[in-house]
Amino acid sequence: MIDLNGIADVRGGLVPPEIYSDPDLYQLELQNVFGRSWLFLAHDSQLPKPGSFLQTYMGEDPILVVRQRDGEVKAFLNQCRHRGMRICRTDAGAAKTFTCSYHGWAYDLAGNLINVPGEEAVYHGELDKSRWGAHKVPRIANHKGFYFGCWSDETPEFTDYLGDMAWYFDGLADRWDNGLELVPGTSKWVIDCNWKFAAEQAASDMYHAPISHASAQIALSAEAGAQAYLPYDAPGRQFTGNGHGTGGPWPPALVMPGTDKVYGPVYENWLADNQQELHRRIGETRALAALGHATIFPNFSWLGITATMRVYHPRGPEQMEVWTWTYMPKDAPEEVKESLRLGTQYTFSPAGVFETDDGENWTEVQRVLRGWKARTGSFNVQMGLGHEERDVHGVPGLTNQSVAETAARGFYQRWSDLVRGLSWQEIAERDAKRAAEEVKSA
Ligand code: FES
Ligand SMILES: [Fe+2]
Repeated sequence: MIDLNGIADVRGGLVPPEIYSDPDLYQLELQNVFGRSWLFLAHDSQLPKPGSFLQTYMGEDPILVVRQRDGEVKAFLNQCRHRGMRICRTDAGAAKTFTCSYHGWAYDLAGNLINVPGEEAVYHGELDKSRWGAHKVPRIANHKGFYFGCWSDETPEFTDYLGDMAWYFDGLADRWDNGLELVPGTSKWVIDCNWKFAAEQAASDMYHAPISHASAQIALSAEAGAQAYLPYDAPGRQFTGNGHGTGGPWPPALVMPGTDKVYGPVYENWLADNQQELHRRIGETRALAALGHATIFPNFSWLGITATMRVYHPRGPEQMEVWTWTYMPKDAPEEVKESLRLGTQYTFSPAGVFETDDGENWTEVQRVLRGWKARTGSFNVQMGLGHEERDVHGVPGLTNQSVAETAARGFYQRWSDLVRGLSWQEIAERDAKRAAEEVKSA
């Protein structure tokens, strides 16, 4: 395994390639990063009534998320306590109980063991069912209808975990009066690359857009002689904090050829009619900021301008499963929702014109990493180093111009802190020290 001391400080913007391929490090990552972070479980709209459930993952651990009879949402490991079978094998639905298909142990909506076949005849009434419920996810946070779960009782409360990222996240969560809903169903696909490529890119990387997505932009514009376009110094900010990241140029700078055509006039007109109300609710700057790319550490991401939300589930060091949803204003007219659904399919579905460009990059990087020489040295994550500013341009926290790798450095620092097993106390103290240094040097 790589020397963990070598990744203790990534402020200089050097990242060893082995963090994307090392199998031992991957096991440590599952336990120390995914075992200690708040992980996205579900959105309110996916669990409409008591008994509604869905399957997801916390890292590689399968999880059942279930709406209880009293409306609360609980989650537990989807693993039978008898001999380890997956308790529920359906993606989503509604249930009164969950019965394991191996030997028939049955669990209630909270994961308590309630029935065991042959309880008297073969267990002689000696099995204490209260001790053999499914492993519960002990902490669940409901942030404005977004549910996150955490295994560790040492991790800070979810709002502290978010820190300044809450302001940006709420640009999504509070965007529309009656909230958001997800288009039913989950699009899932497998990409042969490490999950961090995707999660970090969603936190930080606008740099690739005019190059990697050039052909998509040109195709979308449907105009002869169109050119891919992104002013590298466009207005907009990139934020980093607690490992989270978000950013992107603010429109109109973001209106690249064709992006105005993704959703069509029905959506554009509706948006124009609702613009004032949107600005009143969350402020003009935040309305723009929430159109960008974003990752809540470690693997929950969205892209505001194309209404796609996703989780990058790790599947070994060299593979991930992408689960995506299209989100939309709950109260929007049906034809607006339909425009959104189709536009997002066109851009960021498994066959979307932008999505496929991104996957192509990550799988190629991963393939190159098979070589031993390719895993030596460092990758360069130094863009914008030392040009960060705090609380400027009407946005909170530490930010840089919109095309930078500030949020990537923040992402890897948090990842490194957790994977190396630093306590939350140690992380908080170190971060406070760095913030003080930042003031001194300003
Ligand atoms: S493994 Fe579930 S009942 Fe035996
Ligand atoms: Fe991209």
